[in-house]
Amino acid sequence: MADASNAADPKPFLETVPLFSGAPERALEVAASVVRARSFDEGAVLFREGDVGDALYLLAGGLVKLSKVDLGGHEKTLALLQPPEFFGEMALLGHATRSATALALSPVRTYQLFRDDLERLLAAYPTVSLNLTTTLANRLRGMDDEAQVLSYKDAPGRVAFVLLRLYRSGVVDLAEAGAVVRLTHQDLANLAGTSRETVTRALKALEREGVIETRPKEVTIVDAEGLEEVLHGIR
Ligand code: CMP
Repeated sequence: MADASNAADPKPFLETVPLFSGAPERALEVAASVVRARSFDEGAVLFREGDVGDALYLLAGGLVKLSKVDLGGHEKTLALLQPPEFFGEMALLGHATRSATALALSPVRTYQLFRDDLERLLAAYPTVSLNLTTTLANRLRGMDDEAQVLSYKDAPGRVAFVLLRLYRSGVVDLAEAGAVVRLTHQDLANLAGTSRETVTRALKALEREGVIETRPKEVTIVDAEGLEEVLHGIR
């Protein structure tokens, strides 16, 4: 685990983070003076579910997976995050423990913002406070949608939902043939809350519909609208 505390001025990056969107210049200067740069190798665990947390993370580079172990002992992936998203704020609010494990899926660069500094920023700058609340509301909305899909949709619908969410959050590589999701069937199963075998069958069904193409460890979304139609049961 390398420490990048000599990294360049964080302010230009902080300006892009949703937490500071529309925040006054002074808020950014204060944040830039207190954050600590920290880098992680691919495969490193940033923190584990149940840990005591003292900082939130502003993601400046790489891909982070947030996951939990469900009651049946299976991993459930909550989200894949990329810059300029932030995470790890929940344990700081109400002094709870970490609600999920954060794993670096690639080399990752972050800035840590510690609890006291976050609290000072939230108290002094209402915009920062509102941005934090907005992010939490968006996550809650995403979870409500997911709960509906996971309860009521069949396997192709669930997998379509997961692929569309990755597509919309930009966790795809754009290629001529479409948007490429570079994940294994097990990764997709952990996101869809189902088994690898079920995902493999669902992907075959979606491929027959002509909305995706599959290759080992990658799925290309060739028709996002068609995928949406599958999700809503109109195809
Ligand atoms: P914290 O509980 O400190 O550590 C785990 C982090 O994962 C949590 O803060 C949130 O930032 C993030 N997180 C938890 N649940 C979700 C979710 N459903 N979607 C996106 N991020 C989440």
